[in-house]
Amino acid sequence: MTKTPTIIHTVRELRDQVAAWRKDGQTVAMVPTMGALHSGHLALVEEALGKADRVVVSIFVNPTQFAPTEDFARYPRTLNDDVAKLSGLGADVVFAPDIQEMYPAGFCTKVTLGGPAEDLESVARPHFFGGVATVVAKLLLQCGPDVAVFGEKDYQQLLVVKTMARDLDIPSEIYGMPTIREADGLAMSSRNTYLSAEHRDVAPVLYRTLIDTAIHIREGSSIAWALREARSRLSVSGFKVDYFESRNADDLSPINSLGSGPIRLLAAAWLGKTRLIDNIPV
Ligand code: PAF
Repeated sequence: MTKTPTIIHTVRELRDQVAAWRKDGQTVAMVPTMGALHSGHLALVEEALGKADRVVVSIFVNPTQFAPTEDFARYPRTLNDDVAKLSGLGADVVFAPDIQEMYPAGFCTKVTLGGPAEDLESVARPHFFGGVATVVAKLLLQCGPDVAVFGEKDYQQLLVVKTMARDLDIPSEIYGMPTIREADGLAMSSRNTYLSAEHRDVAPVLYRTLIDTAIHIREGSSIAWALREARSRLSVSGFKVDYFESRNADDLSPINSLGSGPIRLLAAAWLGKTRLIDNIPV
């Protein structure tokens, strides 16, 4: 049955709606997004629908997580299409605040991070996690969900948000859902639409390289060797590699040997002007 979500633009209306649900004893899940919804987002919403009585999907292209050189201006904004996609699923509310609602004049507070926010993405995008953590903290405090669902595709972001919610005593469970992929393995992302046809053909090599590297490590190759092979394969395939690393899956601390903790492989690489990120467990 088609249920069109109510579109809410203000924090006041969102709080009133959630309070009404709470009064009826209902639980609430939130799926924070920047819109341009694809099947990966819809899977997060389906997961959220299974976890609570009511689901709020936020759609906000957050300016503070983009550097001036990045794609804030051209990031796809497709609210009507997004609402249409959510209508088939059963989400209750789309929270779509404008920039003034989220960052009114005089706004000057920022979450400062350490731990899993250091290194990896932060090397190329030092502004990024501060912007993400601040907006996610605001969204969680505005909505007050029992659970918020994020994709493992942005694995470092997931750990940053989990750590931030724990450290700031935000009483929402942060749930990470496995990455949804295209048939050829490419992790779904709103930015995949930037890829030229030629680069789109090459893009799945990133996932295949992660898989092969995990196999090498599991079969006993040295991690340092396996990572070097991976970087070189990506370069030969036409990627410009930002990083291809092994990390402890729990806190992203460096891990250099099998058996010393759960290993996650994380990678970021450019194809032309498009930056792809992906990760898998070993
Ligand atoms: O992953 C995203 O889409 C964004 O970083 C998030 C979590 C919605 C914050 O703007």
